[in-house]
Amino acid sequence: MTTRYHFVSGKDDFYYFYNYKPTIRHTTFLFRNGEDNFNWPALAQYIVQKYRNTDKVNIYNYACSDGSEPYSLAIMLSKYSDDTDKFFPIIAKDTVKEVMEPAKSGTIYLEEDDLKKLHDYTAEDVSKYFTQVKGYKKTNGNRILHVDPGDAMQFQINDNLKKCVEFECADIMNDYKNIKPDNSIVLCRNMWNYLNYDSDRMELAKNLYNRLRKNSIVILGYYDGTIHYEARERGGKLTAEECMQRAGFKRCEVPGLQQVWEKPEQVFEKLKRKSFISRLFK
Ligand SMILES: C[S@@+](CC[C@H](N)C(=O)[O-])C[C@H]1O[C@@H](n2cnc3c(N)ncnc32)[C@H](O)[C@@H]1O
Repeated sequence: MTTRYHFVSGKDDFYYFYNYKPTIRHTTFLFRNGEDNFNWPALAQYIVQKYRNTDKVNIYNYACSDGSEPYSLAIMLSKYSDDTDKFFPIIAKDTVKEVMEPAKSGTIYLEEDDLKKLHDYTAEDVSKYFTQVKGYKKTNGNRILHVDPGDAMQFQINDNLKKCVEFECADIMNDYKNIKPDNSIVLCRNMWNYLNYDSDRMELAKNLYNRLRKNSIVILGYYDGTIHYEARERGGKLTAEECMQRAGFKRCEVPGLQQVWEKPEQVFEKLKRKSFISRLFK
């Protein structure tokens, strides 16, 4: 698989060593999975089933990069649900506004691997979702740093798909406050290594835990179960998975989806009992 660095928010070595800011990579693909073999059709079927009696499901895709991830989810939900309106628009957010700009204006750069996966998962022709504009993408100095520029093709995102996703610039570290507590799906995949320290990863896990309530899930990426060498150099020991467990989340038992997390049901039972007792003594 080729690696798509659409753009590296470059911090030079000086900046990195003296300010302890990681180099942010925006690597992403359609239907990205890692060694966990994250199963996109299983995710869509799980979501459709879990929220079958829910009128509105709030989907937040943090660290959305160039939009490949939210569009993958939108495509899968359209395939497996007859009631898609309740899922859309997916609210896609990233701290770096430039990386979302092409998708905002309806453009995405895809490689052969993306097209192959799209066809494998949907059995549809790519033209149902994307219309090819040009053969190959040209790199633009350091701004768009493409490892293998010859590989990416420019596509226009077809209107039906484009309207399923809305983009916004936001940092999950403070934007979690805008997540609706109930019936929410929070994707924050392959981004935890960009949080500087264990304390930042722990803070995010705790904030998500305190924010979310009934029927809400958090989805991590394969790399969030690892510690990147840059994070390790800063003394990092806790993976996002470990932070999620420490905060109180538990893994959902869904085959093919190791990185889906929720609050244990007992927590809600306890809260219910507490509020019943406090009402009795009012
Ligand atoms: C490696 S890409 C992952 C893209 C996509 N989630 C995927 O798995 O294919 C990491 C992205 O996280 C974004 N990011 C890093 N820290 C973030 C934060 N605190 N809040 C929102 N986005 C963040 C970066 O700008 C970058 O686009």
